[in-house]
Amino acid sequence: MKPTILCVLLSSAVVIASPVPTGGTNDSFTLAVVGNNYKARAAAIEAKRKGWLYEKYPLGGAYYPTGTLANKTISEQQAQWFPIVVEHAQKGNFTTLDDYANTYEKQWNMSLPRGPMLGMLTNYTDDRLFSMMRLRVQLNEALLFPVDNAASITGGLSLEDLRAQGRLFSTDFSHLKGPIGSNLETRPFVSKRHMKNFGSSALWDLPSSGKYGAGCQAYFYIDQSGDFLPLAVKPIIKDREKSALVYTPEDEPVDWLLAKMLLNQNDGYHSTWAHVGQSHSAAEAPYLAAIRSLSDDHPVMGILNRIEKTPWGVRPNLVNGLKSGEAFTGPQYYPWSTDAAVDYVNQLYLSGESADFERNYYRSEFKARGLVDSSFGPKLKSFPFYEDTSVIIEAIREFMEVFINSYYPNDKAVAQDIELQAWYLETKAARVYDFPLIQTRQTIADVLTHQAYLSVIVSNVMSTNGIHLNSMSLPFAPAGFLQPIPFKKGLTEKELMSFMPTPEGAVWQVSTYVVGHRPMWRDTNETLSHLFDDNTLLARTNNATRTAAAKFKATMMDFSTEVRARTFDENGLSLGMPFIFDALDPNYAPYWSVI
Ligand SMILES: *[C@@H]1O[C@H](CO)[C@@H](O)[C@H](O)[C@H]1NC(C)=O
Ligand SMILES: *[C@@H]1O[C@H](CO)[C@@H](O)[C@H](O)[C@H]1NC(C)=O
Ligand SMILES: *[C@@H]1O[C@H](CO)[C@@H](O)[C@H](O)[C@H]1NC(C)=O
Ligand SMILES: *[C@@H]1O[C@H](CO)[C@@H](O)[C@H](O)[C@H]1NC(C)=O
Ligand SMILES: *[C@@H]1O[C@H](CO)[C@@H](O)[C@H](O)[C@H]1NC(C)=O
Ligand SMILES: *[C@@H]1O[C@H](CO)[C@@H](O)[C@H](O)[C@H]1NC(C)=O
Ligand SMILES: *[C@@H]1O[C@H](CO)[C@@H](O)[C@H](O)[C@H]1NC(C)=O
Repeated sequence: MKPTILCVLLSSAVVIASPVPTGGTNDSFTLAVVGNNYKARAAAIEAKRKGWLYEKYPLGGAYYPTGTLANKTISEQQAQWFPIVVEHAQKGNFTTLDDYANTYEKQWNMSLPRGPMLGMLTNYTDDRLFSMMRLRVQLNEALLFPVDNAASITGGLSLEDLRAQGRLFSTDFSHLKGPIGSNLETRPFVSKRHMKNFGSSALWDLPSSGKYGAGCQAYFYIDQSGDFLPLAVKPIIKDREKSALVYTPEDEPVDWLLAKMLLNQNDGYHSTWAHVGQSHSAAEAPYLAAIRSLSDDHPVMGILNRIEKTPWGVRPNLVNGLKSGEAFTGPQYYPWSTDAAVDYVNQLYLSGESADFERNYYRSEFKARGLVDSSFGPKLKSFPFYEDTSVIIEAIREFMEVFINSYYPNDKAVAQDIELQAWYLETKAARVYDFPLIQTRQTIADVLTHQAYLSVIVSNVMSTNGIHLNSMSLPFAPAGFLQPIPFKKGLTEKELMSFMPTPEGAVWQVSTYVVGHRPMWRDTNETLSHLFDDNTLLARTNNATRTAAAKFKATMMDFSTEVRARTFDENGLSLGMPFIFDALDPNYAPYWSVI
């Protein structure tokens, strides 16, 4: 047993405290009233416009701030943002898949004291777990590939039958089929283009990392009993497309497990990188536009400053980590290179996929994917991510509505607020795509609610506290394989072990992901329950807002109690899943987009 200390990035200290945003005045918030005394307010906004400018940025797709005021804030925030130091000891050699559970044993007492989600280490071969981890499957009309034995798996339904009954779901990561990458400058920006349209272009050719993976297409289906299950996985490898194998649950367990792991690699890689554009950039761009158009005395600016706590350190530190190659962003076990990762994030953002504002409101997004409120086909029996998100986001929306209604007596007052209207116009310059016209109280409440969704929910589930607890946990989701993907089926468990990360590789994977985890903030005021629990902010608002903030906190406290009471039922399931979903426990998930 070799104890080691892994020092991540430049940090030499264990950072327990969260960074403190720099504050302004303590005067009550006011709306803009054009008249005699508006001059000073307009001048202050003009000073911000001069000090906060737009600049292209290598990672994330969205502009990044530059200028005298911006630079000062960025350097403060960058210095405050330190990942924690991770202690670990490598435990022996692994001879079976279950040995990977040792990687989590008694060695992450600072960074991962509770291990992955309960059930992840014991139930990973259960197909329900595999399906429930998928948040990206969509109802699709065109069939991606044939599955000859579909009817035998589903109890009589062919792919076409499943599609006709609205029971078929698909996911397509075929763009990850080879070493990928492209020169962004050579691609014209096309709004709302989807990831799958990126695949199979020579522009994706960049050196691989020396590890192995594939770009998977997969089907899922709702079976007769209502369970949501995987039907088939087709791992596609560049230059071997024609001989791609289709794996199904009727294969030998080890072959089927390999196929599921390959899809997990795609999913984990996607989550790791896509979140940079999908939560950070997507939230930063409207925030930067707001800084340039709203007075610091505007109530909406006050709320935005609270939600967007110290956002500007994240992208520079990720870029530095990529350069040094030794940080959590290092490519050690991904089949795709570092350059490919940067390109992946940027393409995803610039396509509109992760950047479109209103289209990505959670209700419309999941509806568009056919996962909720589908006009045909059976309902998903359970969808814990969506259910927990709804409780939290609807409570945030309720707060935002009270807050907005307390400042604007009617929609006309919103439409006539020159600063809000300036913000809308500024989002064009900031290249925020699909930002709504702000003409009603509901629209602005929804905008602020989505801003919180991006920072709190998306960031937490795809990065901070979510990813290593489920979608990047071992052994089920190795970041990459040490052996090329087989040409035929019939793999033994012993052979599969030679694909799996070494014990050092396992430690790399866990340490890479726990860097984002903040277990030391559990039950502190850094968590979601405390999103509006800031006396300095609330003192500048009004009674109605303070009452709504107290109500939000109480609702979250109750919800936390509910989440913590989750257990496995007599069938070994929790909310229909073989693991306990608690990434959105409001007394555990940070209230801001930490990493
Ligand atoms: C605002 O009030 C807080 C205490 O509520 C105080 O710590 C801070 O210094 C005040 N800031 C200004 C600019 O007056
Ligand atoms: C702000 O920082 C950027 C990046 O370091 C630099 O290029 C720019 O000149 C700085 N601007 C000012 C006004 O300091
Ligand atoms: C792991 O295996 C290697 C090579 O077989 C051996 O040298 C090493 O001692 C083993 N380590 C442990 C902790 O068993
Ligand atoms: C973590 O565990 C190690 C070994 O058991 C112990 O020495 C160390 O003090 C623990 N650290 C914390 C922060 O609890
Ligand atoms: C959060 O809690 C810490 C530690 O208990 C305390 O120092 C800090 O003032 C609190 N912050 C707020 C905004 O209440
Ligand atoms: C706000 O609340 C305080 C304390 O509860 C109360 O004294 C005050 O009258 C209220 N103001 C308004 C405008 O309702
Ligand atoms: C999942 O794991 C938990 C904890 O190990 C166990 O209690 C439960 O029975 C398992 N569920 C299934 C379906 O195997």
